[in-house]
This record gives sequence, structure tokens and C-alpha cells, in this order.
Amino acid sequence: MPRRTKVLASLAVLAVAGAAMAWGMSNPHPLTAADLPAHAADIANGKLLFNAAGCLSCHKPGPDLKNVDASLPAGGSPFKTPVGTFYPPNLTPDPQTGIGKWTDLEFVNAVQRGISPEGENLIPAFPYTSYARMKTADVLDIKAYLDSLQPVVAPEKQAQIPAPWLLRRGVGLWKHVGFDTAQWQPDPAKSETWNLGAYIANSAGHCNECHTPRNMVMAFDWSKQFQGGPHPGGEGKVPSLHDLVGRGKYKDASDLAAAFQNGETMGYTDMSSGGMGEVQSNLAKLPDSDVQALAEYITSLK
Ligand code: HEC
Ligand code: HEC
Repeated sequence: MPRRTKVLASLAVLAVAGAAMAWGMSNPHPLTAADLPAHAADIANGKLLFNAAGCLSCHKPGPDLKNVDASLPAGGSPFKTPVGTFYPPNLTPDPQTGIGKWTDLEFVNAVQRGISPEGENLIPAFPYTSYARMKTADVLDIKAYLDSLQPVVAPEKQAQIPAPWLLRRGVGLWKHVGFDTAQWQPDPAKSETWNLGAYIANSAGHCNECHTPRNMVMAFDWSKQFQGGPHPGGEGKVPSLHDLVGRGKYKDASDLAAAFQNGETMGYTDMSSGGMGEVQSNLAKLPDSDVQALAEYITSLK
């Protein structure tokens, strides 16, 4: 073989090997039954976390479901992202169009690993990068709450995205560099309240999704945690959460808690746009003690 052909041949072999590796690496890595804790479901806790996690904000009934109770996560509302428009699906227990037939393991894999029951990678606009940090028992409670809801028949609407197959494979590759599946660990040096607030913010509450910038590989840049940055949905900038009291934004933790509970209706105007309005109205549904804990944690960021 002439030298040039040899080089080309070895390049071709390398390319095929690379593609095979990329293929293997883009395969999802689901949790197994052994990863599920033994757990007696707590529906009330599930409802609380459903609200803290803002599931309804994205999975609310779409424009085709005018007669459906707006508090049911029947899905179908357009959710715009830089890669296209998604229609977050039906989370009510309808066996055909909802999650009625899903096992606990399938649900946990979707919410904490971004893998659908069909084994496809889900797009991280669904904030499973944050939900992965929840206690799995809490995720099982969310499922128990969803299972307790009235089933709604609402077939899934196809996302309007270019090359969905390639995109989902790409997400599989990205998961190796940009997706940390370690669960949230409490800081024993801090108070119980602070740790509760930190848990809500860093897992279910998914505050990092908007308030923490991402690095070159689209992973959270923890060195700049909660320092704000460009909005992930492309809607302007997200403010920093550091030193909110020192900067005179809020008087103290209780004032911030009041802002979380009341938002614009009580004159707190800095949490209304860019998706924060929905976050605020979800926080308003939480028990007082949880909102206070969240405010204590957030005001401790310096
Ligand atoms: C910021 C918007 C957003 C929030 C908040 C959100 N989701 Fe989703 N969810 C999505 C999108 C978008 C998809 C579709 C992803 C895809 O097709 O790759 C999705 C998909 C899912 C799926 C996969 C369904 C399937 O058929 O494979 C489940 C299950 C799910 N979400 C449950 C939840 C739960 C439970 C919560 C709250 C703990 C939640 N979601 C919060 C946007 C969201
Ligand atoms: C969907 C993106 C998004 C998520 C998720 C999100 N935020 Fe925000 N947040 C924003 C934006 C955008 C603003 C600015 C809104 C405005 O000025 O109207 C904001 C504003 C705020 C403010 C007011 C800051 C100031 O300077 O007064 C606080 C406090 C805050 N967010 C806390 C949180 C907490 C706590 C969470 C998690 C429970 C969270 N945010 C989740 C986007 C988000």
C-alpha cells in the first residue's frame, strides 16, 4: 500500500473505533432495582416536593386541555429552549398517555438520570441534573403523589427539535462530562435549618439551573455557584444570590422569606421575570418552616 493510503486506512479505522466508543459512551446508564431504598411512600411529602421542584410549571396542561383542572400535570404546554420547543409530557396516572403503568424504577431513572422507559436520553432542559441530588426516597414520594391524582387522557406531543435521535445520543455523551449524579450531602458544621434550606435549593428547588453559570462543557461551574449569569433559556441575565442582605436587597432572612411567599403582590419586584415568577409562586406553596430555611441558606451565601 502506498504510504498515503496506509495513513488514510488507519485514520478510517480510528474514526470507526471513535464512533463505536462514542456510541457506547452515549448509551444511558440507568439505576437498577438494587439502587432503590426500601421506603413506605408518604404522599404529603411527595406533594411538598412536587411544589418545591416546580413540576407543574413545566408539565401544566397545555392549550388543548382547556377543561382540565390547571393543578393537574397533564402536560402539553410549549416549553421553549435554545434547541427547540418541547411539550413536557403527561404526569397523571393515565395508563396509556400518562405514567400510570410506570414502575418506581422507571420513574426514578427519568427524574434522577434523565433516561426514559424506552431507554432514551432525556434533554436536560428537564432539570434532572438537579433532581439527581434529591434523596431517592423523596422522588418515590413524588411518584406516590402523582399516582394519587386524577388521571387525564393527554397523548404526548412531539418535540419540535432538529435531529432528535442525534440530539439524544449527544446528551448521552454530554452526561459523561456534564452530569454529576452524587446526591446532596449535608454539612455537619451547619445548623439543621441551614441544611434543610441547602437541600431544597440544591436538589428539588433546582436554583442552580438558572443562578449558577455553566462551564465550557455545560456542567455547573461550582467555583461560581449562585453568582448568576446568562439565562439558560436565553432571556437576559439571572442575578447573583450572593450577599443579598449586605447589598441591601433584603433586610434579613425573614424579609427574603416574605419575598418568596408574596412576590410582586407585596412589592418584591425582583422575582417576577425569566421564570422566577413561577419559582416564586411554587415556593409560596411550601410550609413556612421550609421557606424560612431556604431564606436562611440563601442569605448565608457570601
Ligand atoms: C423546567 C421545566 C421542567 C420541570 C421543572 C420539570 N420537567 Fe419534567 N420534563 C421537562 C421536559 C422538557 C421533558 C421532556 C424531555 C425530553 O423529551 O427529552 C420532561 C420530561 C419528564 C419525564 C419523562 C417522561 C417520558 O415520557 O419519558 C418525566 C417522568 C418528568 N419530566 C417528570 C417531572 C417531575 C416529576 C418533575 C418535578 C420533580 C419535573 N418533571 C419537572 C421539563 C420539566
Ligand atoms: C428558570 C430560572 C430560575 C430558577 C429555576 C430560579 N431562579 Fe431565581 N431568578 C431568576 C431570574 C431571571 C431572576 C430575576 C427576576 C426579576 O428580576 O424579575 C431571579 C431572581 C431571584 C431572586 C431575587 C434576586 C434579587 O436581586 O433580588 C432570588 C432571591 C432568587 N431568584 C432565588 C431563587 C431560588 C432560591 C431559587 C430556587 C428555589 C431560584 N431563584 C430559582 C431565574 C431563576
